[in-house]
Amino acid sequence: VLCSARPAAASSAAVVEQASDSGLARIESLSQVSGVLGCQWGDEGKGKLVDILAEHFDVVARCQGGANAGHTIYNAEGKKFALHLIPSGILNEETTCVVGNGVVVHLQKMFEEIDNLESKGVSCKGRILVSDRAHLLFDFHQEVDGLREAELAKSFIGTTKRGIGPCYSSKVIRNGIRVSDLRHMDTFPEKLDILLSDAASRFPGFNYSPDMLREEVERYKRFAERLEPFIADTVHFINESISYKKKILVEGGQATMLDIDFGTYPYVTSSSPSAGGICTGLGIAPRVLGDLIGVVKAYTTRVGSGPFPTELLGNVGELLRVAGHEFGTTTGRPRRCGWLDIVALKYCCQINGFSSLNLTKLDVLSEFPEIQLGVEYKHADGTPIKSFPADLRDLEQSKVEYETLPGWQKDISSIRNYSDLPKAARQYVERIEELIGIPIHYIGVGPGRDALIYK
Ligand code: GTP
Repeated sequence: VLCSARPAAASSAAVVEQASDSGLARIESLSQVSGVLGCQWGDEGKGKLVDILAEHFDVVARCQGGANAGHTIYNAEGKKFALHLIPSGILNEETTCVVGNGVVVHLQKMFEEIDNLESKGVSCKGRILVSDRAHLLFDFHQEVDGLREAELAKSFIGTTKRGIGPCYSSKVIRNGIRVSDLRHMDTFPEKLDILLSDAASRFPGFNYSPDMLREEVERYKRFAERLEPFIADTVHFINESISYKKKILVEGGQATMLDIDFGTYPYVTSSSPSAGGICTGLGIAPRVLGDLIGVVKAYTTRVGSGPFPTELLGNVGELLRVAGHEFGTTTGRPRRCGWLDIVALKYCCQINGFSSLNLTKLDVLSEFPEIQLGVEYKHADGTPIKSFPADLRDLEQSKVEYETLPGWQKDISSIRNYSDLPKAARQYVERIEELIGIPIHYIGVGPGRDALIYK
C-alpha cells in the first residue's frame, strides 16, 4: 500500500499559521529521507519536532526501541497525546506510520494506543504498517525484566521494566518470535513454549505452567486476527516509497547516550538509537540517508541509574526539574537534572553526523540568573580528557569544567522570531553552536506545536 503522492508544499493551515516563511522553507528543504534523533539520555522532546515535520513527509517510521519511548505531543487544538509505540506522525491524516523491523512490539500496548487514538478521533485504519520482521514482546519479557533488575540488586540498570531488554535478548539468542510467526499458528505454541521454558529455567521466581501457555496462545490467536491488516513487509514498502520519491521521516526513540554500543554501558537501552539504527531497523541503505536532526535539551536530564557528569543534586537541579516538568511520560519517575554537557553532545554529534540541531526547552532556563555549560572533562590529575570516555570509572572520577553565561530572566515562551529573543538567550544558543560546530535550526520555547523558533 503506497500512500498517495503529495506535493512538498502541501501543508495544513495550522502549520502555515505557526511557522514563518523561512521556517517552512527550511522544513520543505529537508532531504527525501530525514531523521530526528535524541542527543542525550532521552526525553529531549523529539516527539514535538517529528509531529511538526510529519506534515511534510509521506511516511513516518520508528526503527528501534519499543513502548519504552514516551513521546508527548499536542495537536492543533491543544489536545495532549502520549505515544509509546505508534509514530508521532499519526496525528497527520495523510501520513503513513511504519513500525519497523528493529522495533519490539507489545501487541496489547499497541492496540490500547490505537483504541485511545481512535477514541479521540484519530483514524488509524490503513495508516499503520507493522513490520513482519519486528519481534514480539510478551508479558513474560516484562516479568523477566523485573526479575533481572531484582537480581542485579544495587547495580540495577533502572530500566522502565517494559521488557525491552529481555525481548532484544530473545532476538539476539535467536529464539525470539516475530510478527510473521503469527501467521503460522500451528507452530506458534511450540515456539512460545521454548521461550517460556527458557525463562523458567533461568529464573526460579518465574512460574510457568501448561495453563499459562494455553491462555497465552489463545490470546495471541485473537491478537493475530486483529493485527493481520497492519502487517506489512516494511522493508519493501519503505524502499518502494523511496523509489517513488516519497518523503520518509525516521523518528528515533531514546538517544545516543543510551545506545547499546555508544552509551554509558551497561546503563543503556538494548537497541541503537543513533544513526546506524536507522539502517538496521528499517532496511534503509546508508547512502540514502539525508538530513539528520539531533534533538538536544537546553540542559540535561537522565532517568534511571548511570553516570551523569553535569548532574545537579541540590536546589538548582530541583528548580530545573520543577520548571521543566521533568517526570517520565511512561513511568512518572522524576528525572535527574543538570547543565548542558558539551563533551557528551560533541561525542554524540560525531557519531551521528547531524546536519542541524533542535535545541528544546530553552524557556525552562528563563528563571536562572546564570547558566552553566559543561565544556570539558578533566582527569583527577588535571589533564584534559579528549573525548567521552568508555570507562565508567574514568567518567565518575572526571571533573567537569564549566563556562558561565548570563541568564535572561524573562519569559520567552511567546517569542517566535530569533531576533526577538533576549540578547543573553541568543548568546547561549550561539555559544553552543560555536562549541559544537553544527547549526541550531530549531529552538523550542514551550511544549505546544507553535512554540518553536526557526533560526
Ligand atoms: P523519548 O523518545 O522517550 O526520549 O521522548 P521525547 O524525546 O519525545 O520526549 P517527550 O515527548 O517526553 O518530551 C518531553 C516533554 O517536553 C514533553 O512534555 C513535551 O511537551 C515537552 N517539550 C518539548 N519541547 C518543549 C519546549 O521547547 N519547552 C517546554 N517547556 N517543553 C517542551
